[in-house]
Amino acid sequence: MAHRPKVLVTVPLEAEARNRIANCCEIVDGNIENITDPDTAFAAQLAEVKGLLTTIRLPVDERLFDCCPKLQVVSNYAVGFDNVDVPEATKRGIFICNTPGVLDSAVADLTLAMILCVGRSVLENDRYVRDGSWQKKPAPLCHDLRGSILSLLGMGRIGRLVAKRARAFGFEVLYNKPNRDHNVERSGLATYVNRDELFRRSDYLSIHCPLSAETTGSVGAAEFSLMKPSAYLINTARGKIVDQNALLAALDAGVLKGAALDVMEIEPLEATHRLCSMPNVLLQPHVGSATVETRRAMVDLAVRNLLAGVTGRQPEAVVNPEVIPQLAQG
Ligand code: DGY
Repeated sequence: MAHRPKVLVTVPLEAEARNRIANCCEIVDGNIENITDPDTAFAAQLAEVKGLLTTIRLPVDERLFDCCPKLQVVSNYAVGFDNVDVPEATKRGIFICNTPGVLDSAVADLTLAMILCVGRSVLENDRYVRDGSWQKKPAPLCHDLRGSILSLLGMGRIGRLVAKRARAFGFEVLYNKPNRDHNVERSGLATYVNRDELFRRSDYLSIHCPLSAETTGSVGAAEFSLMKPSAYLINTARGKIVDQNALLAALDAGVLKGAALDVMEIEPLEATHRLCSMPNVLLQPHVGSATVETRRAMVDLAVRNLLAGVTGRQPEAVVNPEVIPQLAQG
């Protein structure tokens, strides 16, 4: 058989996707935790690897690049790529790819589900039925969603779909992001406000920006102190955007009414974590994109990106297009 490029796959794949890769590549299997041990046979394999299909759980940094000197492409099975040292990859001429577009609806759906759940006291009322309270006292009232203010920190593909869904429920939608989106405003989807006003006016503050050096810890005590004590924080983006200790303090002190989190500072969250014992916090295990259809579409795009990158073609979803001219020269 003709020489096939070696690829390392750290994502559990269905047979069809794995076969698509195996048809033209040699898949290297191994314990990724051994990646820094230079003496193992695995390290020798890594030295030949041209492509990597992985998740946000794996730090893709200088250390990994040194172990894989022939690497041409990293295909991240996620739209986020905060696990990757992109400047270092670009310096080395390595394509970094992600899966934009295909998961937007699923993440927007979960965002709305969490807003509806906290806003309409769905979990509290479930407990109220199960613990027999229904027989003893009337269920507490919550507030109409219609007319509430949903503030979006960030307004990209996912933010726009969240805004659309929220508008259908009658929310007023505000947003803030570094570069104002005039199309969003012209279409009546959301109103731009400055950052302080965004926090101050929100009934629900939902995060839809990427994790970066600028956004790490950028939602903290100062922001919570601007919010109404009746407001909720919703996060389906990245846990590290929020200063989690400041959030715990704000929830303890009643600065905020509650939070709905699909993402946390450290994942998976330990069951003994204080967040898990707070009745005013709704928790999800980072499942924004976790539907069969969306995950298949993500795998499909991630595999296409991988195969293009290892066969010298330009992948579809490249986050460091500066590498493309190097492809032409190669
Ligand atoms: C993404 O695609 O970035 C999701 O958060 C899954 O990690």
